[in-house]
Amino acid sequence: MTETDFESRIVAPEFTSLDTDIDKSLRPRTLIDYIGQDKVKENLDIYMKAARLRGESLDHCLLYGPPGLGKTTLAGIIANEMGVNLRVTSGPAIEKQGDLAALLTNLSEGDILFIDEIHRLSRSVEEVLYSAMEDFALDIIIGKGPSARSIRLDLPHFTLVGATTRSGQLTAPLRDRFGVLLRLELYTPEQLAGIIRRSAGILGVELDDDGALEIASRSRGTPRIANRLLKRVRDIAQVEYDGCITEGVAQSALRRFEIDELGLDEFDRRMLSTIITTYNGGPVGLETLAAALGEEAITIEDVYEPYLMQIGYLSRTHRGRCVTKAAYEHLGIAYNDPAE
Ligand code: ADE
Repeated sequence: MTETDFESRIVAPEFTSLDTDIDKSLRPRTLIDYIGQDKVKENLDIYMKAARLRGESLDHCLLYGPPGLGKTTLAGIIANEMGVNLRVTSGPAIEKQGDLAALLTNLSEGDILFIDEIHRLSRSVEEVLYSAMEDFALDIIIGKGPSARSIRLDLPHFTLVGATTRSGQLTAPLRDRFGVLLRLELYTPEQLAGIIRRSAGILGVELDDDGALEIASRSRGTPRIANRLLKRVRDIAQVEYDGCITEGVAQSALRRFEIDELGLDEFDRRMLSTIITTYNGGPVGLETLAAALGEEAITIEDVYEPYLMQIGYLSRTHRGRCVTKAAYEHLGIAYNDPAE
């Protein structure tokens, strides 16, 4: 799948050009308005209160979990609740040590620096980050050859909020410098229905509880997908119905988008059926599967697999990926029990 195809995939949990200003206004600004992730919220609330009581900046936080679960939103909430500025960047955007130095020296005391996809920082940039995180200092080399010397610049006490899809992708020295590690989980349909109702209220979309739950249960546990589906279903409700999203309207709209009752789209179904038909249900190695599907292994791992594993359709074994009996049933393919 090309990047354009990926962006056009209606259940892709990545940021796309469709993330407009209206999306930002859908983002909750306080922990109270943030639905789900109760453990993360509870812990963050305590850490922020304690830091505020001591008059200190919050410890560096690492947020990890599948894409689209609200890592950027949480960084915004932290900045808002701590009353400081938020600077947003990403691992691939910081190409040189100088890029990071420019970002760091422009921060004010207590500011939040949010680095998305932090596992994609280059080694040389990451090394500059170590002393910045640990000592709030920047060591820069001036000059070249024998006359080169290092000077140390003091930085404000900032908070680094890093986001990654898996904490295991980070190098150990970087991971060890985060005082707070927070793992985000996929949302339940009920939590997503709450998010959809909240977003519908902000967007002025009429929707009943069953309509919200119908969209929620097809959103793969991901708020970003839930909000995107809400907007697309709204279009159909307005043009073809009376504007109100009911269960029936949501079902007919989602059928048109080829998103099934579990939120699986054409790619998910192709992936499962490829494992079944070409690899006899698995095990098949990730790289082999990626080549067969024409998709990057990392995208399969980060974007498609978490939900397929959560619903019990896919398992990861040391020998490769296996499709479960439940997935055969969902796809209407006869299952031959290997034990028989
Ligand atoms: N929008 C996106 N994620 C959200 C969340 N967790 N709670 C409320 N609104 C959201």
